Amino acid sequence: MQKNHDKPVGAAFDLSGKLVMVSGASSGIGLHLAAAMAKAGADVALCARRTERVRQEAEHLEALGGQALGVALDVTSVDSIDQAMHQVQQHFNRAPDVLINCAGVALLKPFLEQTPEELDAVLNVNLRGAFLLAQRTAAAMVEQGGGSIINVASTAGIRPGGFLSSYGASKAGLIHLSKVMAFELARYKVRVNALCPGNIETDMHKEFEDAGFTEALVKRIPQRRFGTSQDLVGAALLLASEAGSYMTGAVLTVDGGQTVNSL
Ligand SMILES: NC(=O)c1ccc[n+]([C@@H]2O[C@H](COP(=O)([O-])OP(=O)(O)OC[C@H]3O[C@@H](n4cnc5c(N)ncnc54)[C@H](OP(=O)(O)O)[C@@H]3O)[C@@H](O)[C@H]2O)c1
Repeated sequence: MQKNHDKPVGAAFDLSGKLVMVSGASSGIGLHLAAAMAKAGADVALCARRTERVRQEAEHLEALGGQALGVALDVTSVDSIDQAMHQVQQHFNRAPDVLINCAGVALLKPFLEQTPEELDAVLNVNLRGAFLLAQRTAAAMVEQGGGSIINVASTAGIRPGGFLSSYGASKAGLIHLSKVMAFELARYKVRVNALCPGNIETDMHKEFEDAGFTEALVKRIPQRRFGTSQDLVGAALLLASEAGSYMTGAVLTVDGGQTVNSL
């Protein structure tokens, strides 16, 4: 007997009554997905280092009717992660049902020129930071009875991208981490999936455009365009909601076909 069998299809994507925590919510993909979750009915906690910005964005989102909170978070600091988790749980009186683990930094530089400090900076945010935030959130979700974690990785973690050695390695690590987490946490009803955007027009992506890579990159995308943060909303809602209830350990690309281009 299937649960929800008689409900309208769209109801499975409804996030009313859910709390979604988003890291990297001060700009780009994280901010857009936080707004999309709020539009789907969720309360949202927007987390990033630019505290004023997340607070202002939270105020805008409250106009949609739910609750929203801007929270200071630096994922390179264990203390900051613990404080943010504490603040979120105190404010909403519950643990997050969904974590969108989206904080990230990019480095576009030839492999031979990347310094140990630059390597550390990328791994510290994209892998260590994502690991620790997911670990702290998962522990709270286990206690609460379940949840969904969306690790925002990248197609650069699936296929090699030139000048993206430390970035690609961090995202490949995050994809692998997502699979191990999915395996270990399924028994606690916590689902974990990796969402892998291709080229999405944001502040981060501007670096590629400024470096003059636009034409070459677009040619490698079968759909012949860069994506927008809006292009990620459907996949994120699927992974966040009841609609994706049998999905865990998936590596979901949203890339206009970039990872299946012809040899
Ligand atoms: N744009 C693309 O083409 C693309 C493709 C694949 C994957 N992605 C991934 O998508 C995610 C979002 O990127 P974006 O394109 O939206 O770029 P973005 O606008 O630069 O967003 C990056 C976000 O990460 C946050 N962040 C950076 N360091 C942080 C730290 N130490 N602690 C907490 N938050 C931190 C930033 O906020 P603060 O500076 O305020 O802390 C910002 O909100 C990243 O993980 C990125 O790797 C992007």
